[in-house]
Amino acid sequence: MANAPLTSDTPVVVVANRLPVDQVSQPDGTAQWRTSPGGLVAALEPVVQATKGTWVGWPGVPDTPLEPFDVDGMRIVPLDLSAEDVADYYEGFSNGTLWPLYHDVTGEPVFERRWWESYCDVNARFARAVDLEASEGAIVWVQDYQLQLVPALLRERRPDLRIGFFDHIPFPGYEIYARLPWRRQVVEGLLGADLVGFQRGGDAANFLRAARGTCGAATRGSVIECGGRQLRAAAFPISVDAAALDELARRPETIQRARTLRHEFGDPETLILGVDRLDYTKGILHRLRAYGELLDDGDLHPPETVLVQVASPSRERVEEYQRLRNEVEVIVGRINGDHSDLGHPAVHYLHQTFPKEEMAALYLAADVLLVTPLRDGMNLVAKEYVACRHDEHGALVLSEFAGAADELRQALLVNPWDIDGTKEAIRRAVAITPQEAARRMRSLRRRVAEFDVHRWANAFLGALAMVAESREG
Ligand code: G6P
Repeated sequence: MANAPLTSDTPVVVVANRLPVDQVSQPDGTAQWRTSPGGLVAALEPVVQATKGTWVGWPGVPDTPLEPFDVDGMRIVPLDLSAEDVADYYEGFSNGTLWPLYHDVTGEPVFERRWWESYCDVNARFARAVDLEASEGAIVWVQDYQLQLVPALLRERRPDLRIGFFDHIPFPGYEIYARLPWRRQVVEGLLGADLVGFQRGGDAANFLRAARGTCGAATRGSVIECGGRQLRAAAFPISVDAAALDELARRPETIQRARTLRHEFGDPETLILGVDRLDYTKGILHRLRAYGELLDDGDLHPPETVLVQVASPSRERVEEYQRLRNEVEVIVGRINGDHSDLGHPAVHYLHQTFPKEEMAALYLAADVLLVTPLRDGMNLVAKEYVACRHDEHGALVLSEFAGAADELRQALLVNPWDIDGTKEAIRRAVAITPQEAARRMRSLRRRVAEFDVHRWANAFLGALAMVAESREG
């Protein structure tokens, strides 16, 4: 069955910048492990657990050498980064250069030679760590934009491995990509894989174009030929563990918690929810502007309607993120100043990360979920919401520029740059009839249940096995 959890005789070695758990220090000086942020971890954790595999990555704090250990059925191999690596490779090249560039320049990319050197150095260390960890013929699955050089570096050391790469974020059009001073080296890094996966067909097409443009590769459909080797680049839209989320959301304690939350938010007629990492690609400012105007125009009335915006802390040392936080807090303050009643804020702004149990309750409590990124590889929050709504209530307002929009056609789709269009979509979502909401939600739920994270992993690893077999003859 396509959606059965993966069982593999060959354990998968996942390599990602982050481990699925982050080490956080407590006020008393002790350290504790906590689930890492973001969609990548949420999607891959069940895959590594199902194959009893290994995860190589950074534990989230600099200068903390740690021995490998086991957690939740996974072998965890921590890779230590110094404070300088974090500044140059992670905050610099990954999040100051690649992140804005790949998200269609929603922020201004900075091209800094020192950051590039650090990126090369850290990618080489990841490749060495995997070399030590991977058994003969193992499957290695490299994740995301922080590690694009690892496939070729690893192939050089270990031609026996089957190497897959998955890009969780968009791959930009060539006119944008071509600005990168190291565009050839990055593509060469990726061409070391047997299979390069993307969220959307458009991302794969952009990459094929970049392979032709920078490395003179020949492409035929999804097949790439370069330097006497063949590989494939294709779309594999990532998803969530729909059955697990459905089960969590059906638990009596989750349902009860959703009721309590609504009560704590003042028992509004309409509870609107936004859930994002605090990132400039997520369109939080545009969304708040649209919401604020709806209140100014008298279309929505707090406290009958409230907005709950969860904005989880992210990349807090990067200047762009600090600026965004300030801007978000100014606009939330203005809306609340103008429109709150005593004891009833119009916007509940939570700069926090919540465990998945609490998130499931929040999803169940929300009449409307706003997912309006300016650009997003996939956006798993949209899929999590759908997977939790077993009651078939709730309306999803979704940006056309999220990968999820390709699949979730029954959402209310918006162009987040269009404030009037966003306001109209919010008005429609608030006024939706229960019948229309249920019809749309049923269709969304069918899609997410069928194309879940297990199917994604099976499809990717199945395609990887086929490419590698044909390569091995
Ligand atoms: C996105 C990226 C991931 C990243 C996550 C959290 O989902 O695709 O690679 O791990 O954001 O960001 P952070 O920088 O905290 O790892």
